[in-house]
Amino acid sequence: MYSKSELVKILSDNDKENNKKIFELADKVRRENVGDEVHLRGLIEFSNICRCSCKYCGLRSPNTSIDRYRLDKNTIIELCEHAVEMGYKTIVLQSGEDAYYSADVLTEIIKEIKKLDVALTLSLGERSFEEYKAFKDAGADRYLIRIETTDKELYKKMHPNMSFENRVRCLLDIKKLGYEVGTGCLVGLPGQTVESLADDILFFKELDADMVGIGPFIPHPATPLKEAETGDFDLALKVMALTRIMLPDINIPATTAMETINPNGRIIALQSGANVVMPNVTSTQYRPKYEIYPNKICLNDNPDKCRGCIEGKIRSIGRVIGTDKGFHKRK
Ligand code: 5AD
Ligand code: FES
Repeated sequence: MYSKSELVKILSDNDKENNKKIFELADKVRRENVGDEVHLRGLIEFSNICRCSCKYCGLRSPNTSIDRYRLDKNTIIELCEHAVEMGYKTIVLQSGEDAYYSADVLTEIIKEIKKLDVALTLSLGERSFEEYKAFKDAGADRYLIRIETTDKELYKKMHPNMSFENRVRCLLDIKKLGYEVGTGCLVGLPGQTVESLADDILFFKELDADMVGIGPFIPHPATPLKEAETGDFDLALKVMALTRIMLPDINIPATTAMETINPNGRIIALQSGANVVMPNVTSTQYRPKYEIYPNKICLNDNPDKCRGCIEGKIRSIGRVIGTDKGFHKRK
């Protein structure tokens, strides 16, 4: 386990050989603790409507240049059924912060999905304890909500009308309710320091997260950060690798954002600590509308194409597709 100053030192090191050693160590820790299985989670982006104004995000409500959509219950269920036919054992439902999907609407959807014998992850943003409880009672298993950054000043700048305290409250509520807790951060936000990235990793540890997703920041042309620089691939990969070393048995996705800035990004991530991939199972017609950041991969592909593509890539590096629901197995 690394102290904060050790994490800062490693994160600040630009020596290629030293970094390679960290990636190799993370790969070894991954193999010893979670094995060679890669768990696939079918991701459904069911609404791009969002009440928030996060400075980095293309779905932010002030962005009038995107075509907004909402999928109804039947469409969502059909996508889930198809995902199950393709072999997915986990469905991830993700959306902007869209109040249309009240606890009542969502519990109906959750109950239908749970009839399909799959694990269900929700990623819907900040909600009340009561709503989180209703989703859990309806059968949801896991909840993803990234802390994004633990630097409180930066958090404030990036998230108008939101609060760091409420974000943490959400994570604690989710934990209290018995969900598997997923969090994570962006790497390369303008003004972000390596010290705060070290704090992010220590935060994941302190929270005792079950899943941690890390990706580089990618500037979106329709946001206030359009002129900012793209996050560094190796730095994002290093934050991910250090997270694996610090939380050896958790689930860590090779994120889509990694592949967006590096053509082999997900495979490199899988060889540097990651053990999960979340292929998109949203229909092709909606994909370009869910533009959190530009040049997202697989925009013109369909669910079957993505499944086959990623399976092939995973096998080509000698790894196997997970056969169970891929819950966090604590050591
Ligand atoms: N670049 C990279 N990742 C982003 N996210 C949002 N906007 C961007 C961006 N411009 C990430 C956030 C969020 C997740 C769904 O997408 O971390 O939690
Ligand atoms: Fe979508 Fe490769 S994962 S085409």
